[in-house]
Amino acid sequence: MRFCIAVSFALFSLVSSADPDVRGKYSTQMALSIISREQGILASSSDTSAILQAGFTQKAFRRLVSQYPHDPATTTIAQYLRRSVDSVAGPVSNATRDLTYSMDRLSSGNGLIDLYKKTGDRTYRRAFDALRTSININHRNVEGGLWYFVYPQWSYLDGMYSLAPFYTYYTALFDAHNATAIADMMHQLDLLWTRCNTNHTGLLVHGYDGSRTAVWADPHSGASPHVWGRSLGWYIMAYVDTLEILPPHFAAQKRVLLTRLRRMAGAIRRAADPTSGAWWQLLDQPGRAGNYIESSGSAMFTYALLKGVRLGYLEPAYTHVATRAYEHITDTFVVYDGNGTLSYNGTVSVCSLNSTASYEYYVGRPISFNSVLGSAAFVLASLEYERI
Ligand SMILES: *[C@@H]1O[C@H](CO)[C@@H](O)[C@H](O)[C@H]1NC(C)=O
Ligand SMILES: *[C@@H]1O[C@H](CO)[C@@H](O)[C@H](O)[C@H]1NC(C)=O
Ligand SMILES: *[C@@H]1O[C@H](CO)[C@@H](O)[C@H](O)[C@H]1NC(C)=O
Ligand SMILES: *[C@@H]1O[C@H](CO)[C@@H](O)[C@H](O)[C@H]1NC(C)=O
Ligand SMILES: *[C@@H]1O[C@H](CO)[C@@H](O)[C@H](O)[C@H]1NC(C)=O
Ligand SMILES: *[C@@H]1O[C@H](CO)[C@@H](O)[C@H](O)[C@H]1NC(C)=O
Repeated sequence: MRFCIAVSFALFSLVSSADPDVRGKYSTQMALSIISREQGILASSSDTSAILQAGFTQKAFRRLVSQYPHDPATTTIAQYLRRSVDSVAGPVSNATRDLTYSMDRLSSGNGLIDLYKKTGDRTYRRAFDALRTSININHRNVEGGLWYFVYPQWSYLDGMYSLAPFYTYYTALFDAHNATAIADMMHQLDLLWTRCNTNHTGLLVHGYDGSRTAVWADPHSGASPHVWGRSLGWYIMAYVDTLEILPPHFAAQKRVLLTRLRRMAGAIRRAADPTSGAWWQLLDQPGRAGNYIESSGSAMFTYALLKGVRLGYLEPAYTHVATRAYEHITDTFVVYDGNGTLSYNGTVSVCSLNSTASYEYYVGRPISFNSVLGSAAFVLASLEYERI
């Protein structure tokens, strides 16, 4: 309550003190803090990780704006959301050039569609049509799997949160009779499910090489060796966000997604660290020296589980799993800056399969303070937590 009153007076005097007992709306506080750091704006079209940071910020801010239409901070957040979308609209508006970005270029697609619906501005339409066309001309492996990026034949779980909700939203709104599009979207999720669920546990490894020649590739499946938290986080979030918008007549596809979502959720529950309730950087190596509880994957699982329960996809028993993790996150990773902004700690920097993909590689990657891949995931988790 204290927070709600404060925010109506000034943007950055959000919290009256650096009082860790303040339990206001973390979603809004973190969003305003991301804004104060000027994150999630594409400043240079050649920065390939910034495009995901922008798109993911948009995904979180879109949900916040729709969940809290009357919150006094929402106007500021909606304006910033538009700034972020505007920053990518130009750079992505050429489908051929889009292929110089990874699959994560698609993460801005739904934000572009929303602004087009709202304003009718053709600039947005050109941009998301180019993104849609870029899927058709993206390289594929022999089984039709989309390459994630420039690496020949490699597909990653990571790209799916950018691809599947965009592919589905675009098709539902502008291409409703194109059954091939939904079939292709499902095919991408299917291939990763088949190739990366190597031990049939529901914990999928990071990616696979369709040519099985990478140093890390399993000779039979092509799979990489480890279950990286953030990549599984992207993949499970793709399921909940796609189920939410897949039109009702795709009932068979929904059943497939639901069955797998439940398998993954069960596995993720079992993989939660008993002490903290949150999740390891590498879920398949709990407690091993060097492994640690990572803050972006943990927030993503929290979001997916809580939203899965809210929309009736998962049993209510998952609420407790997720709230326990959420409370660990707020106690451990959320940092009060002392001036009303919040920081977010403990987010691993980008882990690439253009590496040895070994245990030492994943646990040796730098840990970032205020990576927006962590803080925007925290906004999403908070939005769900606040609805309980
Ligand atoms: C799109 O980008 C490609 C590759 O950079 C370029 O050759 C082409 O001229 C561009 N198309 C337009 C319409 O600008
Ligand atoms: C339908 O979707 C498929 C798969 O993405 C695509 O190749 C095709 O061009 C689309 N058809 C139309 C009419 O847009
Ligand atoms: C798969 O199972 C093997 C044998 O138990 C184990 O060594 C390996 O770490 C597991 N891999 C994953 C990704 O869970
Ligand atoms: C708030 O404090 C943090 C940490 O000292 C600092 O990095 C940031 O610039 C400050 N933000 C504002 C808006 O004063
Ligand atoms: C961020 O986390 C690291 C590792 O746990 C810790 O050493 C550091 O003090 C934390 N930073 C802040 C500002 O809490
Ligand atoms: C892949 O890794 C190699 C070796 O570290 C590096 O030279 C190359 O630039 C990387 N490729 C990309 C596209 O980042």
